[in-house]
Amino acid sequence: MQTMTSKDIAKKIVLELSLEQKAKLLSQVVWETTDVGELHPGLDKFLLADGPSGIRRLKEYFDEDIYNTKPSTCYPSPSAYGSSWNRSLIRKLGQYLALEAHQEEVDTMLAPAVNIKRSPLGGRNFEYYSEDPFLAGELATEFIQGMQGAGVGACLKHYAANNQETRRMNINAIIDEQTLHEIYLAAFEKPVKEGKPDMIMTAYNQINGEYCASNKELLDTLRQSWGYEGVVVTDCFAAHDLAQGIKAGLSLQMPGETESRITERVQALIAQGSLRKEQVDQAVIRNIEFALRSANNRVTTQYDREAHHNFARQVAEESIVLLKNDGTLPLAQKESVLVVGELAVKPRFQGGGSSHVNPYRLEIPLEELRRQVPSADFLQGYALDGQPTPTLQAAVLAEGINYDTVIVYAGIPDLIESEGYDRRNIQLPAVQNQLIDALTEVHKHVIVVLANGSVVEMPWIKKVAAVVEGYLGGESGASAMVNVLFGQVNPSGKLAETFPLVLADNPSYLYFPGNQDEVCYGEGRFVGYKHYEALAKPVFFPFGHGLSYTQFTLQESGKPVIDSQNLTATCLITNVGKLAGKEVIQVYVERKVSGQSHEPKKLVGFEKIELFEGESQEVQLKLDPKTFMSYSTIDHEWEVMNGTYVFTIGFSVQDIHLTAEIILSDKPMVIHADSNIGDMIKVVGMYDQLKVAFSQHPISLRFLALTQDEDPLKAISMGSLMTLNTLKRVDDTLLDCDIEAIVHDINNHQRSV
Ligand code: GLC
Repeated sequence: MQTMTSKDIAKKIVLELSLEQKAKLLSQVVWETTDVGELHPGLDKFLLADGPSGIRRLKEYFDEDIYNTKPSTCYPSPSAYGSSWNRSLIRKLGQYLALEAHQEEVDTMLAPAVNIKRSPLGGRNFEYYSEDPFLAGELATEFIQGMQGAGVGACLKHYAANNQETRRMNINAIIDEQTLHEIYLAAFEKPVKEGKPDMIMTAYNQINGEYCASNKELLDTLRQSWGYEGVVVTDCFAAHDLAQGIKAGLSLQMPGETESRITERVQALIAQGSLRKEQVDQAVIRNIEFALRSANNRVTTQYDREAHHNFARQVAEESIVLLKNDGTLPLAQKESVLVVGELAVKPRFQGGGSSHVNPYRLEIPLEELRRQVPSADFLQGYALDGQPTPTLQAAVLAEGINYDTVIVYAGIPDLIESEGYDRRNIQLPAVQNQLIDALTEVHKHVIVVLANGSVVEMPWIKKVAAVVEGYLGGESGASAMVNVLFGQVNPSGKLAETFPLVLADNPSYLYFPGNQDEVCYGEGRFVGYKHYEALAKPVFFPFGHGLSYTQFTLQESGKPVIDSQNLTATCLITNVGKLAGKEVIQVYVERKVSGQSHEPKKLVGFEKIELFEGESQEVQLKLDPKTFMSYSTIDHEWEVMNGTYVFTIGFSVQDIHLTAEIILSDKPMVIHADSNIGDMIKVVGMYDQLKVAFSQHPISLRFLALTQDEDPLKAISMGSLMTLNTLKRVDDTLLDCDIEAIVHDINNHQRSV
């Protein structure tokens, strides 16, 4: 006898429930705080918990103090580990978090979050991976597979376009269709299709006038196009239109109404015909199936907290980005060191809001540094609250000259960067910039260590010896940073977001954060590096940038650099330095079409490679299946597009070592009634086809012939600029049915050649 799947069991249970009982199972709060076994003996509660950097396990449900949680490992922020570009590391992070979740009896973690860093001001940028959807999607897929492979569900969030905190619960994001699919949904597709998360959380905001939790186009993409069968849950209190949501594919509200309220609401919706019982059943079946799977996956574990603390350090070490180094780094342990900055004794190691974790054991940077250099001295230098402190600064300027090296721990204070609100600028506190600037006037070996969730401006960049980006390094980020500073670890992090020279250079600047009702994504697909590259705009540090203590080169390996049939890139990487190290090979592509506007450059492949000094390796990178595709707003789906594809391969979007070109021209032009005659006759043979098509329409034939007139103005204005529909207005014999027949015949002919 065939064993019943969890879906079969769920369907059987639903048949035995009343409508009132089913209605209750649409709310997370019912599943987590009531004895659902009373509704049906086959049911058991489940428990969800944040977040992307560790478990925020409330001591009791709905505690107002969201920070009153059980201690757990605080891992680096996603903006940190997104800079690792290390698929296997992120998968392992998912596994470690799963072990902790099992111990805390958490069935599903509310992570990963893959929203795009559209503006550097985004308050939750620390919680997101990248400004690039391909990188975000690749890493999130690993996270999900690692976590779910270890028996704990993942909840991919926030679907979609939760790119600002300002008015997040009502703002309407106005996004054109192609941008929505190529940027803001693209980061979710691979994690959904290949990660297969147990849950997907819809975003608070609206997209093009519909709240995400009940946005039919958005949920149809998820359910119909991507075939997602799991639970779709709202973000907190975001089920604005429950009926529309359930019909579109929503299945669970977070936290959802109380038992009595949700029962009344569903009964009323059914009574007024807004919802059918079968639609409620489908949602409840998904929730029950999820609960059954969670119950089956539970194991009792006891994880080794020290081992997890040490793994958090490994994650931080892989994520640290060496932005600048004049050779001052790595430091020798015999050097005399002065440590400056309140952040060296009061570290910033995580972001604020729902992802906040009570760390198991928080390291202090000054203490960790003194393990390497016991004689290291410390001066506060500035006050973290940003208050002017001339005496603190004066002490550093007076004392600093007595040390080989001065290390300034700088960064963004907690309260400036958090869930719930966006930043107002991307500057470090003025007191920190003033101190660094003044110090470089009296000292040639000033090292800046940064602790920030997202990009910052660096007005002193030309004057300091080195800058190391630690992002929010988690509970053991301090020792990770010291290991990099003294060379125990060779840094290999690469920026997953661009550092612009000034905020106003960012493409979203004129549109962010919108007005009280809506925000227009006026920059379209040109998000982050896609904009800076298209305009060749200088930046502090480009996307994909990150230095090493050794050097690497890339050459052709003798095989074709790009194989467009198998969608691979092949090259030879060599470590030409004196130290072992890791480098990230990055593959970008830009489609060029003569006579058409720019297409954004896009990352389509990357691999992190570890090599000993002098070692070489041939590397074959898998490319994004959509490398040669764009989203068509005519056919409303992804399509292969003709054009000249210029590939650039290197160690950042600007540090290019190899190039290659692939020309695609064999995709037939699909015409329609508004196709431009000038575009059509560029296609070989199309002019003759149109001559045949217009053989019964002499006026249209005349206009077609004019495209060949030796007078360019006549050829263009009376010929090329015309469309099939405009010909209809000068040629009474050309009717809609004729145009439909012409379009049909030409498209069929195109496909047949
Ligand atoms: C928040 C966040 C979401 C989090 C949820 C539960 O509002 O937007 O990321 O998972 O609430 O804490």
